[in-house]
Amino acid sequence: MTKKKAAITGIDAYYPEYILTNEELSQMVDTSDEWIMTRVGIKERRILKENGKGSSHLGAIAVEKLLNKTGTSPEEVDMLICATVTPDMQFPATANIICDKAGIKNAFSYDLNAACSGFLYALTVASKLIESETCKKIVVVGAEKMSSITDYTDRATCPLFGDAAGAVLVEPSKDGDTGIIDHILESDGSGKKHLHMKAGGSAKPASHETIDAREHFIYQEGQSVFKFAVSKMADTSVEMMKKHNIKSEELAWLVPHQANMRIIEAVAKRMGISKDQVMINIQKYGNTTAATLPLCLWEWEPRLKKGDNIILATFGAGFTWGAMYLKWSYNGVNKK
Ligand code: UT7
Repeated sequence: MTKKKAAITGIDAYYPEYILTNEELSQMVDTSDEWIMTRVGIKERRILKENGKGSSHLGAIAVEKLLNKTGTSPEEVDMLICATVTPDMQFPATANIICDKAGIKNAFSYDLNAACSGFLYALTVASKLIESETCKKIVVVGAEKMSSITDYTDRATCPLFGDAAGAVLVEPSKDGDTGIIDHILESDGSGKKHLHMKAGGSAKPASHETIDAREHFIYQEGQSVFKFAVSKMADTSVEMMKKHNIKSEELAWLVPHQANMRIIEAVAKRMGISKDQVMINIQKYGNTTAATLPLCLWEWEPRLKKGDNIILATFGAGFTWGAMYLKWSYNGVNKK
């Protein structure tokens, strides 16, 4: 008997209206459009400006749009996982808050923190619960208000990040052929020293001192992270191609985490694929952490065809990284 497959059967996303341009950033810190475009490839990013609104606001809108678009009633959802490093609160989970806002009452829900790899980790968990017939309809949402942990006096990090959410519906594959085929997920906690937030957790709770020292923001040693990101994302993506005997020309799309245009180009080169086979929207949204992959899939959804070979690849804090191989399961936009 062939193993049951899980498939993405719908996708939607949401980003806030406010556009933070490189020009505006250049008024805030000593930087320039030229530096940011050359070194990173970001032109603008979206920022959630409204007071009192967190990642659940972005996530709930993406999920509501997804349910509406796929004709799914909130009561039908069995489980929701929210991948985020910017939860509304330490607890309860942002996933619980999203369910409440979206009217999802029959699901169990929780947050998953694997930083930029969070969406891929969560999608893997969801696929296993579909394959084992534990659940029939799972929502995976990546939701991030990165502006809430970005230090807008630090030119090394403030151009990089943006706010957004993307959500997918995961169900059993209807044809048994298309859907999620394989994953490689890895992590290495020794990467903590290169990318972390110094205070606000149980090891160093918030205090006047931590606020004064600006320790509630992203700390990143960019060059070290860059080297790991290129080699780990490329290694796992190439390993996935070899494992499934996918030739470069047979890959419809690489969907890479959007942290730096140079990282994306280096990974594509190692995979032997052309830029036309790569989903890239970093110039419009920056690095939205757990939301980058669904945001890409959503933008490209109208162009996707049933049976398309797709590799999702990611790298993030932890370190965490991985790749997923799937065959897309529908043509164009899925409005049931
Ligand atoms: O998503 C999670 C995983 N994260 C990543 O994958 C990010 C990986 N890292 C990167 O993408 C890059 O390392 C950065 C974009 C963060 C930085 O680019 P870089 O080419 O590695 O620059 P750098 O940190 O080596 O800095 C080069 C120079 C420095 O000046 P000096 O020391 O050479 O005089 C920096 O001070 O650029 C300077 N610099 C800037 N200059 C203008 C750093 N940030 C800026 C800036 N504007 N915004």
